[in-house]
Amino acid sequence: MAGGRRRRTAEQRRSESGRMTDSTDAQLAAQYEAYPYPARDPRDEARRLVVGSPSHLREVDHWVFGARRPASRPLNALMAGGGSGDGTVMLAQQMAWAGRPGRVTWLDRSAHARKVATARAAMRGLGNIAFEEGSILELPRSGLGPFDYIDCCGVLHHLPDPAEGLAALVSVLAPGGGIGLMVYAPHGRTGVYMLQDALRLLAPPEEAPPARVDVAKRLWKGLPETAWLKRNPWIEDHLKGGDAGLYDLLLNPRDVAFTVPQLAALVAGAGLRIACLVEPARYDPDTWLTDPRLRARTAMLDPLARAALTEAMCGNMGIHIAYCVRATDPVAAPPWEDDAAVPVLRELDGPALAKGLRGDGVLPVTWDGLRALLPVPRLAAAFLSRIDGRRSWGEITAGVVAAGASPEQAGRDRAALVAVMERLNRLLLAAPPG
Ligand SMILES: C[S@@+](CC[C@H](N)C(=O)[O-])C[C@H]1O[C@@H](n2cnc3c(N)ncnc32)[C@H](O)[C@@H]1O
Repeated sequence: MAGGRRRRTAEQRRSESGRMTDSTDAQLAAQYEAYPYPARDPRDEARRLVVGSPSHLREVDHWVFGARRPASRPLNALMAGGGSGDGTVMLAQQMAWAGRPGRVTWLDRSAHARKVATARAAMRGLGNIAFEEGSILELPRSGLGPFDYIDCCGVLHHLPDPAEGLAALVSVLAPGGGIGLMVYAPHGRTGVYMLQDALRLLAPPEEAPPARVDVAKRLWKGLPETAWLKRNPWIEDHLKGGDAGLYDLLLNPRDVAFTVPQLAALVAGAGLRIACLVEPARYDPDTWLTDPRLRARTAMLDPLARAALTEAMCGNMGIHIAYCVRATDPVAAPPWEDDAAVPVLRELDGPALAKGLRGDGVLPVTWDGLRALLPVPRLAAAFLSRIDGRRSWGEITAGVVAAGASPEQAGRDRAALVAVMERLNRLLLAAPPG
């Protein structure tokens, strides 16, 4: 990386802060000033909350803190490259709804994105957000932090040096804290980089953003059928994301994609380790392979190799979402055995899910066009119908037993349900009250 940067010396320029950035980075800054990402209308906050990964409060509690960090302890979160505010608004709103103390700091260098994010927060009356305009790369000298949780979603892969960016985040990470990352992945983005190459020739990055958008729309209309992006049904930003989505996907001056091993190397280089790839079941080769001889071989692979294998054989992953913690921190596995722990379903209604379960004992799941049939235990509906975010495992299990199940069967099926649903990132443990 350092060598690469040295070769670009001619196009480097000195920013106001005195740090070295390159002309591509200046074009990137101009892009997000012209088109804050993602395109959002603050008025839409009146009718819906955009939720997702990383940085859903339930996920942070579970995957970063192992459902051991008390809900009463203030959470100081940073949204690094917060853009138009999806993650910021989600986390701040979830904290407000749950009465959780703490603060979410939005940081981005786009003044236009700040306007949008601020308006969205105002629409919701959120008072737990701080807005900071500036560069992620300045974090070590910013005086901000330390932060218990840092979100960096769709940002590292645009930076001049993603490793430097991640190191800057780690410099303001509190002891015992964690980071939620999203980076692009190559296989699911098949066709994207070819079109980026084509558009660099037709509409050079030096041109004004609106002129480039016009050329991209014309090219998309006239594109030969063989263009791979036309055959890639999983990428939709250029079709559904407005001009901001189109620009971000096809005209972005810089984006690099990471395979699982490349992401793992980036993370390890920053002194971190991956605590969870979302969703874990998607990264498990045994979700997709049933041949016992193949499973005998996958069983010999370490977790990272298993995820790399799955990525390579499925071919449809366009992003990776990873929760990371310091490599030296102890593994905080969520206490699933603890009867006092409270299970929660992420964006699922327990009774409704229980009612909808198929009689054949399998749960169908689809990720980017790829469908898996996951076996669920016989008592799945009995457990799911009792999960309401308040009752503890002990209370739920007692209810299942009172309804006629043997304690042994209830114990086995509870563990089997967790094994399936936690790996879908849907059944998690709540933070303990305090
Ligand atoms: C693709 S958007 C992602 C926005 C948001 N994280 C999300 O997922 O909705 C990338 C954002 O990173 C910001 N960004 C890029 N480089 C940055 C830097 N060095 N410092 C701060 N923000 C930066 C851009 O301004 C832009 O808002």
